[in-house]
Amino acid sequence: MAAQEYVTLERTGDKMPLAGFGCWKIAPTDCEATIFNAIKTGYRLIDSAQIYGNEVEVGLGIKKAIAEGVVKREELFIVTKLWNTYHHKDHVRPAFDKQLEELGLDYVDLYLIHFPVPCEYTPIAEAYPPPGWLKNGADKFNYERSPIQDCWREIEKIAESGKARNIGISNFNVQTMLDMLTYCTIKPAVLQIEHHPYLQQKRLVDWVWKQGIQIMAYSSFGPISYLEMTGTAKDAAPLMEHDVIKSIAAKHNKTASQVLLRWSVQRNIVVIPKSLNQGRMEANLGVFGWSLDESDLKAIAGLDAGLRFNDTMEPAYGIDLPLFD
Ligand SMILES: NC(=O)c1ccc[n+]([C@@H]2O[C@H](COP(=O)([O-])OP(=O)(O)OC[C@H]3O[C@@H](n4cnc5c(N)ncnc54)[C@H](OP(=O)(O)O)[C@@H]3O)[C@@H](O)[C@H]2O)c1
Repeated sequence: MAAQEYVTLERTGDKMPLAGFGCWKIAPTDCEATIFNAIKTGYRLIDSAQIYGNEVEVGLGIKKAIAEGVVKREELFIVTKLWNTYHHKDHVRPAFDKQLEELGLDYVDLYLIHFPVPCEYTPIAEAYPPPGWLKNGADKFNYERSPIQDCWREIEKIAESGKARNIGISNFNVQTMLDMLTYCTIKPAVLQIEHHPYLQQKRLVDWVWKQGIQIMAYSSFGPISYLEMTGTAKDAAPLMEHDVIKSIAAKHNKTASQVLLRWSVQRNIVVIPKSLNQGRMEANLGVFGWSLDESDLKAIAGLDAGLRFNDTMEPAYGIDLPLFD
């Protein structure tokens, strides 16, 4: 099995693997086998979400890995996320229970609020997995008048029940977190954000660390997973083919993807790359036991361009919401 390194979460002392596996855009038909392979390959952190529409199959892959003795449940770190349509205080717990049922698990290791955006509710009995940003059949995005504070209180209750060992947030900015820190009884353990050399968000990351909150990076390879969705991604130079990344990779005899992932894990930022390809899945775990040097880090720092690909203002989302402004 590939080597693994960890960061420790403040409240529980749980060890969160620095290299995990993401489940976005894995078709349900491929998903059980993919998750089983990922665990067999050495991944111990799995990043799932209600909106990915594949939690039943994620759960089957986990179940198979445990049944075949590849891993024990306590060696896995399972992350999942509450979708925007279930922020209301009456809807958080039923949505979470539905996820546990679909995943076939007694508990998750980390439960995140996916976005700080309450969207109009659709009952589970009416549609599940939930609709995306627009209610099914709607042509306009509708908010729900539901404060994050109410949602977080329900998430805290899930943590108190032990069904989610740790709780956290995703796509939150400093202002939203600052507010949260005034009312929370359990502080978020993790913030998951888009993070790659084109979007380094150094001030956000440094501030979050000072609060004792760990960072998990999504879309570590930058534009590649947004090519079919967003114009910005099509216009950006592919990160894996960028001269700076390629020359660092050649210097260390590593792949460009390993350089991009190492850049995060070396700074204790968790990565969750997704790959359906066995060779790439294995390569993406090759991020321990070697280091980028100061000149590499300086060269990568120079690539920061404030380029966000998972941008709610992109036409692909169909909503009028400049969430990150
Ligand atoms: N919280 C949020 O809002 C949010 C948003 C986006 C993503 N996420 C999470 O973050 C995870 C990862 O982000 P992501 O899915 O956007 O993208 P990613 O992992 O940065 O990139 C995935 C893409 O890169 C390709 N790839 C993977 N390894 C490669 C390698 N070694 N060489 C060349 N190509 C490679 C994959 O293709 P192949 O499969 O063909 O290898 C796929 O097209 C998601 O799965 C999800 O769990 C969270």
